[in-house]
Amino acid sequence: MSQNPIQLQQMQRADIDAAVELIRKSMNGIEARFAHKTMDFHFACLDHGLNDGRHYYVYRKEGQILGLVGLHNYIWGPRENVWLTWFCVHPDMQGKGLGTTLLSNAEAMARKLDYRKFFIETYDMPDFSTARAFYEKQGFTLAGKIEDYLPNKAGMIVYLKHV
Ligand SMILES: CC(C)(COP(=O)(O)OP(=O)(O)OC[C@H]1O[C@@H](n2cnc3c(N)ncnc32)[C@H](O)[C@@H]1OP(=O)(O)O)[C@@H](O)C(=O)NCCC(=O)NCCS
Repeated sequence: MSQNPIQLQQMQRADIDAAVELIRKSMNGIEARFAHKTMDFHFACLDHGLNDGRHYYVYRKEGQILGLVGLHNYIWGPRENVWLTWFCVHPDMQGKGLGTTLLSNAEAMARKLDYRKFFIETYDMPDFSTARAFYEKQGFTLAGKIEDYLPNKAGMIVYLKHV
């Protein structure tokens, strides 16, 4: 029987710089800066025994981080809701099926953690057009849109899948 070699591993504090660099390469520098802040915050919370509702996972091959997936349950929000965060695949690896596998692993992880509604926040700007096509192909449906959400006037788009 063949084994699926693509497995997510829990992200470690030592992975922060590589994960942020992956976000910079696959998205942009602004997202990378926000990611750095939230990852620093997450690991600082862990240091103090606090649960900030976030889980970060990496896909590593030969020591290099090629994929990243975050899950975020807002600690003030419904227990069954979870949001996908900082999802990306290294640019050299995109379009080869890795994103599909990582997202399906993330959905399985979300189910295991007892989440039922899997939300995705993305934007209506061209940088994210591939991602939007990708999420629709993965069975996510449009749950809502907020116009003029980002400082550059881009709208926020929310996708949802029941997991
Ligand atoms: C979104 C992302 C994670 C998808 O990962 P991936 O490994 O490229 O995805 P897959 O190879 O599994 O692609 C599956 C489908 O997505 C779509 N897709 C992926 N790359 C595409 C591209 N460059 N152009 C058009 N469609 C594309 C296709 O529909 C593809 O289906 P196909 O193989 O039948 O053509 C990846 O493109 C990425 O990291 N993008 C930059 C970061 C980002 O925008 N993250 C989302 C933030 S909300």
